[in-house]
Amino acid sequence: MKYNNIISTITGGINIITINRPKQLNALNKETISELSKEISISNSNPSIRCIILTGSGDKAFVAGADIKEFVSFTKSEGKKLAREGQMLLFDKLSNLEKPTIAAINGFALGGGLELAMSCHIRIASENAKMGLPEVSLGVIPGYGGTQRLTELIGKGRAIEMITTASVIDSNKAVSWGLVNHSCSLEELMPKAKEIASRIISNSPMAISKAIKSINAGCTDGTDGYAVEINEFGSCFETDQFVEGTKAFLEKRKAKF
Ligand code: CAA
Repeated sequence: MKYNNIISTITGGINIITINRPKQLNALNKETISELSKEISISNSNPSIRCIILTGSGDKAFVAGADIKEFVSFTKSEGKKLAREGQMLLFDKLSNLEKPTIAAINGFALGGGLELAMSCHIRIASENAKMGLPEVSLGVIPGYGGTQRLTELIGKGRAIEMITTASVIDSNKAVSWGLVNHSCSLEELMPKAKEIASRIISNSPMAISKAIKSINAGCTDGTDGYAVEINEFGSCFETDQFVEGTKAFLEKRKAKF
């Protein structure tokens, strides 16, 4: 599919989606959100794609936030619609996707950019990355799930401090706070993301999707994560992939999923 703001490169079951607005530091305008949403849906229904890596073009920014120029003169109701539609079209979709997603954070991940990375299942940041939710410095708050996902990842005390001071943290602090899983040099970033993706895709995609669903259930208000786990566990039995995985173990060979 031809896009104006993103590039998709599919190799060996991995779809690398690059947000490609380097002059605007890959800021998320409406069209970019819509293109990302489309490409993610297409990837989800394509069985040959087993993992998605999201990154930004250039070596300066992953995504510097929602496009400020686009919402600067919005009314209250337009602001609410921006957050609601963005969350539904992209951020919640990513977070609840059946296929694992990895954010390869190659520079600034601010506001909507960090919210995008936090919607992915795994985050890796290069040593030049700078991460924060600086929205209060603009007189607004994070609107793409940032107040919720940052709190989930680093805890309430740190999230409140980071958001209210509009602080930007580096990759070492982000690792120590649990905001990202790994930090590495910019050169190592994509190889590291691909290495993790390759390890993921050697496992059962069916079981992976059920694991993601169960983990997310535990972080959803009003949902009993343990009950979801019991159901999802049971539903693995009798599937082709369960039969293949267990048979391969007993036959002392690698499973083919
Ligand atoms: N929206 C629109 N344009 C942006 C942008 C954004 N979020 N971030 C950067 N740009 C544009 C700049 O306007 C500039 O364009 P021009 O050359 O046309 O002026 C270009 O990208 C390069 O940016 P700078 O010249 O500012 O680059 P810098 O190296 O001096 O600074 C930066 C880099 C610190 C990331 C700075 O660009 C910055 O602070 N950006 C905004 C970060 C931010 O506040 N993000 C939160 C957005 S609000 C949000 O995301 C709301 C939400 O949750 C839904």
